[in-house]
Amino acid sequence: MPETTPKGLTRLAFGGDYNPEQWPESVWTEDVRLMREAGVTMVSVGIFSWALLEPAPGTYDFGWLDRVLDLLHDNGIRVDLGTPTVVPPVWFFRAHPEALPVTADGRRYEFGSRGAICHSNADYRAAAANITTRLAERYGDHPALAMWHVHNEYGVPVSACYCDSCAAHFRRWLARRYGTVDAVNEAWGTTFWGQRYGGFDDINPPRLTPTVGNPAQALDYKRFADATIRENFRAERDILHRLAPGVPVTTNFMTALSQCDSIDYWAWGREVDLVTNDHYLITDGRRTHVNLAMAADLTRSVAGGAPWLLLEHSTSGVNWQPRNPAKTPGQMARNSLAHVARGSEGAMFFQWRQSRRGAEKFHSAMLPHGGTDTRVWREVVGLGASLDALREIRATRTVADVAVLWDWHSWWAQNLEWRPSADHDARERADAFYEALYDRHLTVDFAHPEADLSAYPLVVVPALYLMTEAAGHNLTRYVEGGGTLLVSYFSGIVDEHDAVHEGACPGALRDVLGLTVEEFAPLLEGDTVRVTGPDGTGLAADVWTEFVVPRGAETVWTYADGPAAGYPAVTRHRLGEGTAWYVSTRLDTGGLDAVLARAAEDARVPARPGLPRDVEVVRRTGESGSYLFAINHTGTDAKVPLDTPGTELLTGETAAGRIEVPAGAVRVVRLDG
Ligand code: GLA
Ligand code: ZN
Repeated sequence: MPETTPKGLTRLAFGGDYNPEQWPESVWTEDVRLMREAGVTMVSVGIFSWALLEPAPGTYDFGWLDRVLDLLHDNGIRVDLGTPTVVPPVWFFRAHPEALPVTADGRRYEFGSRGAICHSNADYRAAAANITTRLAERYGDHPALAMWHVHNEYGVPVSACYCDSCAAHFRRWLARRYGTVDAVNEAWGTTFWGQRYGGFDDINPPRLTPTVGNPAQALDYKRFADATIRENFRAERDILHRLAPGVPVTTNFMTALSQCDSIDYWAWGREVDLVTNDHYLITDGRRTHVNLAMAADLTRSVAGGAPWLLLEHSTSGVNWQPRNPAKTPGQMARNSLAHVARGSEGAMFFQWRQSRRGAEKFHSAMLPHGGTDTRVWREVVGLGASLDALREIRATRTVADVAVLWDWHSWWAQNLEWRPSADHDARERADAFYEALYDRHLTVDFAHPEADLSAYPLVVVPALYLMTEAAGHNLTRYVEGGGTLLVSYFSGIVDEHDAVHEGACPGALRDVLGLTVEEFAPLLEGDTVRVTGPDGTGLAADVWTEFVVPRGAETVWTYADGPAAGYPAVTRHRLGEGTAWYVSTRLDTGGLDAVLARAAEDARVPARPGLPRDVEVVRRTGESGSYLFAINHTGTDAKVPLDTPGTELLTGETAAGRIEVPAGAVRVVRLDG
């Protein structure tokens, strides 16, 4: 088997965060014995161990880590080695209290948890560079080393700091970006409410103000905070590249979790050698496997379509949500393999052995408190065998049908205060459109609004409030060239500075949609409207309506009631070789599907009527072959049609015409030919 990334792995990655420092050494031998029993191929080590590795300034203790790495290597387990910079030791903060971050209302966090760091702080930067250098020098050529795991989940729990050194750093960032303070005044529209700045020194972070602050300032501060955190990642990465050439560097992302909305993963995806992601099921009553699929698709997209790796998920319940259900039997494997179907080169967990102490002792693990005579352990061993049976799929790529536009900057801007309706939530629209595509069994790539879209027959724009002029032109070109576009309301409204595009809304999309919006007419809480189609079909909607004036577009559905009664609700615009659809209200699930069906027809994307709801079918293809993953999330056995006969890799059976997928099970077919 050829090696891929991580270095030295010839199978899919399977393992988890391994924190042997929480246990006496006598436990370590049992750990590796059980890791072998389960088929573990890689573990992440040392993520939180700075205080042990450097117990006092300039005093190091690497002995225990030497022994851990040697032990793992002797047992054939690869190591994803952490730089422990997410938690500096307490001595560091006692010497440099100003390295603890400050909130927008001026309070400084205390030591005693994790991730409390001011990323502008020069002392933190120096100390992080030092411990990273020491680790790279000591372990850069250790035979167990497969990958570097820099820091942990950058951006949480503190996404921005508002201290004085951040203020100074922000001014430098602004000076580089804008050149003059007048350019800042212009971009931020500071004439409004008399906020004009005379010099860079007068500018502060968007700290506590009595009412809404300048939105463009707030948006730039998000960009600044993200860029500052990225500077620190790059600094560590460059040290590791220099001292350990050939060893890939990653940091674990949280691409689709709304807990982490402060990181622009489009930018970060370009900085890492391998995109890795952490994903946890959010139990808020919605279908968790749909959110999982979305996270995996987004992660793959951030990786530019290349294979990526699920670095953390859970074997069963987590412990940080209000209610933390255990996974049902079989759900863990289904979750793991659903990530693999969508491009992950394995499935890793937080964590190997469940902790007895500390904040996460009620979080599930691969090896539970109850040991090996447990359901979770038996399922872990089973998953190890399944992943081993799938090893030939490494380096193949997931095949997508359609694209959904996604942009963190737009999300940041949209979430600022004083918008037409508090009930409109851009992320909710993204989830809803994704779910509608999922239910049509279409695999989604996410794309930046300025990316080349010509490969996709259908591009969906859920609610992309901020859109540059360049993005608008990109979409016009895409439609003129034959593409089909489906756009939700409140898209293309402002430019990169949160300034409304000149002229009637939606400025960036007027031409491609062939319409203008004269006025937004959001609804009161609980109010609904009906929209009717040409054949009399009625659809239900809420939250948002608009006064749409067609300027080239045809009206397909019309508001039957509500403030915009008689106005177009859903329109279709033929432009060049393509078609652009516009949905001006928040349709319910059935309504969204009805419009999507029409757009999909225009785009000629495949309809997959033979597939039951919640039976997920995804393909990976590459040099080793073409593979069909069929994941049955339902409690009923299902049949999935096969265009080509093939061999099922988990059972070894041959299949032709169709494959039976038992309730809750996964099947992976290597297609012949
Ligand atoms: C995150 C962290 C881990 C752990 C898990 C628990 O992903 O990276 O250290 O806290 O959450 O779910
Ligand atoms: Zn700071």
